[in-house]
This record gives sequence, structure tokens and C-alpha cells, in this order.
Amino acid sequence: MSLDLTLVDQRRISMAGNFAPEAGQVFTPREAASLVASMLDLPKVDRIRVLDPGAGTGSLSAALVNKIRHQVPSTTVDLVAVERDGRLVPALEETLQEIESLGQVNTSAIEADYLLDGVGLTAELGALEDPFDLVIMNPPYAKLAANAPERLALRPLGVEAPNLYAAFMALGLSQLRASGQLVAIVPRSFMNGTYFEQFREFLLARSVIRRIHTFESRNTVFGDSGVLQESVIVTFESGGKLGPIEISVSRANDPVPHHYTADYDKVVLPTDPHQFIRIPDEHGEDVPADKTLADLGLTVATGRVVDFRARSYCLNDPGEETVPLVYPGNFDGGVITWPRIMKRQKPQHFDARDDFARKQIHAPGRYVVVKRFSAKEEPRRVVAAIWDAEGPVAFENKTNVIGPITDPAVAVGLSLWLNSGPLDRLFRTFSGHTQVNAGDLRTLPIPDEDTLRSWGNNRKPALPGQNAIDQIVTEEA
Ligand SMILES: C[S@@+](CC[C@H](N)C(=O)[O-])C[C@H]1O[C@@H](n2cnc3c(N)ncnc32)[C@H](O)[C@@H]1O
Repeated sequence: MSLDLTLVDQRRISMAGNFAPEAGQVFTPREAASLVASMLDLPKVDRIRVLDPGAGTGSLSAALVNKIRHQVPSTTVDLVAVERDGRLVPALEETLQEIESLGQVNTSAIEADYLLDGVGLTAELGALEDPFDLVIMNPPYAKLAANAPERLALRPLGVEAPNLYAAFMALGLSQLRASGQLVAIVPRSFMNGTYFEQFREFLLARSVIRRIHTFESRNTVFGDSGVLQESVIVTFESGGKLGPIEISVSRANDPVPHHYTADYDKVVLPTDPHQFIRIPDEHGEDVPADKTLADLGLTVATGRVVDFRARSYCLNDPGEETVPLVYPGNFDGGVITWPRIMKRQKPQHFDARDDFARKQIHAPGRYVVVKRFSAKEEPRRVVAAIWDAEGPVAFENKTNVIGPITDPAVAVGLSLWLNSGPLDRLFRTFSGHTQVNAGDLRTLPIPDEDTLRSWGNNRKPALPGQNAIDQIVTEEA
């Protein structure tokens, strides 16, 4: 027997009109709900205990119980759905009644705050005490300040949850039995950046990632609610062993997701101290890189001259105390051409006449400089070039500066690596935008110094064509 998911979806649509997506009350459409449920493996047990926190009108519960009924018809299901908003509870109860009508399903709708009533001193939700086999969620999202009650309530679990959705995931995970699975459809933001670093540490210490689903186009999942955000669906297994991760991608205009698997260490690089969760592309190529810039003793800084704040120091003509001022527009195929005539001309001289200005210049030396913003028409996100001159230099704020680097061959090798196709693909596994921050560069995998030197030996800083660059960094490793 199967559930009429059309009815469940109509209930969702009729309720959705009354709620504002900004309040985190975006309900999962039928197809997406089935996709989320499909990302769970069903345990081979007689009874499956399921939790749906922040259940809304129950779309996820319905899709999951439907799947259980099809795949393991003889299994009994105990389903707990928690919803804080009393206006949604009648609709949720209707859905749960329909679910119960499938037989061998016990449901309870609990009107409560999953976070505040579920844990901490005020915990009242006895129904949540026993561990669950499966947790399925499309949690609310909103930033949590350091002293937000939800964040404080979760702290005893050992987690810092900077967002409501992270708090839901952390609590859900802690309520799983060993080898139980949690699937969540959430914003991609927790997968990288420092803001969620402690949260990732918590997640990855307690569970392993089993599956990741992404959407190529931002408006595909919650299309009918007008929500535009980069969503992912991720399945975690509590206390599981590291193994290959199944990745799937929904492409615009193609109803069938594209599937492939990636090695765990391509998703969470063992060398990455920040444990970014990457989504490698299908080729998941082996890169000869297991160091970071810091391992090589190299620092990264954002160019110090913010030109609109230092207008009187940025000059068109040289003066007695001026030093070269380098903009992204000075990048020229791997080298920095200075001074340079540009279409939208930028001042090429920085007047280091006083202490304020002198603080903004770099010591003489050799630097690998990276654009902070790549233009859309540029085929790669990371665009690097070498600065190598005798005197001091000023880098404008739209650049990142790596170095100084003493060995010219290492600088050329690093520039080849940063400008390569494999590095670009790695970069795209964790960054969805065109900006390249100093923090991003610090986490990028970099080959060891000998490898960089061997690539750069007897080569000039000017870059060869893309194919030649890619050949150097893959074949000659
Ligand atoms: C993004 S909606 C998703 C609803 C449903 N899971 C779905 O997929 O259609 C999040 C739901 O969580 C509920 N919610 C928000 N904060 C909550 C809390 N602290 N405890 C329980 N439910 C909460 C909201 O009212 C909303 O119904």
C-alpha cells in the first residue's frame, strides 16, 4: 500500500502561503522530499524508529515512511515528528494520520521547541530520549548569536552551532543510535569557512558522510517558494567507518540525477586542519599536493592598499618616494607588467611618504600574487602571477600576496600550480563563488617544495598555455 503524496503536497502548498520563507519556514516539495528520503539506507530490523524535527506539514515523514513501506513492508515504524509552530500542527497531524493508515506505523506529533525543550536544563521531551535509527530533516535556518538560547542549550553537547540548522543537525546526530543515519537538506555554507569550523569538527568526529547531493541550479529545490540558496542534501552515519562517498547532482532540465562516487579523502582532505567538506567533481583526480602554504613557511595576506581610502597616495606619476602599485590589471599571463597602460587606467605609483603609507608596502622580494576576484569570462577562479623586483612594492587590496619566496624556481612552480586546471577544480569543490580569499588560499593543498622546484626549474614566470600548465603539474609530479 502506498501513500498519496499528492495529497500531502497539496497540504504543504495550502499551508505554505501563510508562512514567510524568511522565518525559515520553507516546506519541502514532494519530489525533493522523496529525494531526501532516498538518501537513507534502511536498517534491517523489525522496528525502525524515525525522527523528523521541525516537521512542518510532514512532507519528509510521508516520503520516508512511503519508502520504508515499499522496501521493507514487514517492518514496524515508530515515527516522532516535532514542530514548534502550533499553526502547523493540525496539518502535520492530518499527514501523520494518513501515514498511520498504511498500517504498522505509530506516529506522534509533538508541539515543542526541538532545541530548547529537547536538550539542556529545560528538556521535557521524553519521547526523544531513546536513540533513533533514522533522522530526516529540513531544519529552519537563521544565524545564532554566541549567546542565543539555542546555542547555549547545545553547548553541553560539545558543539558550537552558529546557525539554527547546524543546531538541528548536531542534536539530531547525537540522538542517533550507533550506525544510525541522519539526512538533512540544508544550506551548503557549513561545508567550508571558519564560521562553521567547530561545528564540522563535531560532525566529523561523531559521524561519517555517506552521501552528498547537490543542485546545479540554485532555484531548483524550493522553486515554488522563491527561495534562492545553495542547498545540499547530506547523509551522515553515526560512528561509521570511512568509505567512498556517493555523490549525486541534479542538473537543470534533467530529472535524473547524475551519480558518481568519491574517495573520502577527496571530500575531507586528511591534511586539511579546517576540515572543509568538498564536493569533488567526477574525475576526482589525484593531485600531487598534501601540504599547505604554511607547511612551506609561506604567509598569505590581502594587498594592503585600499585605494579609495588612500587616494592622495595613489599617483599617476612617479615621485621621490613612490613605489610600484600593483593592481589585478597589472597581471599579464603569469607575470606582473608594471607600469602598465590599462583600459580603465589605475594609478601605478604609491607614495610611501609617511608612516601611514610605509605600513602598507611590502619588503623587496619575490611574491606570488593572486587576484581576489576573477572576472566571469576568466576560465579559472584562481589567477596568479609573479612579482619579482628589487625595490619595495605596494599591492592593492583586490589582490592576495604570498611570500616573499626566496627560490625563483619554487615561485614559478607555485604559480604553475595555482594557475592549473586541477587546482581550479579543487577550488571549486569547496567554493561556490568567484571570490578568492586569503583564508581559501591558506587551506588549498599545495605540493611540497621539491615538487614545486622541479616544475619551476629552468622555466620563466610567463605562463605557457593551459594544456601545457596542466601537463606539467600532472605528468611531471
Ligand atoms: C524549513 S521548515 C521545513 C518543514 C518540513 N520539515 C519540510 O521539510 O517541509 C522548518 C520547520 O521547523 C519548524 N521549527 C523552527 N524552529 C523550530 C524549533 N526550534 N523546534 C521545532 N520546530 C521548529 C518551523 O516551524 C518549520 O515548520
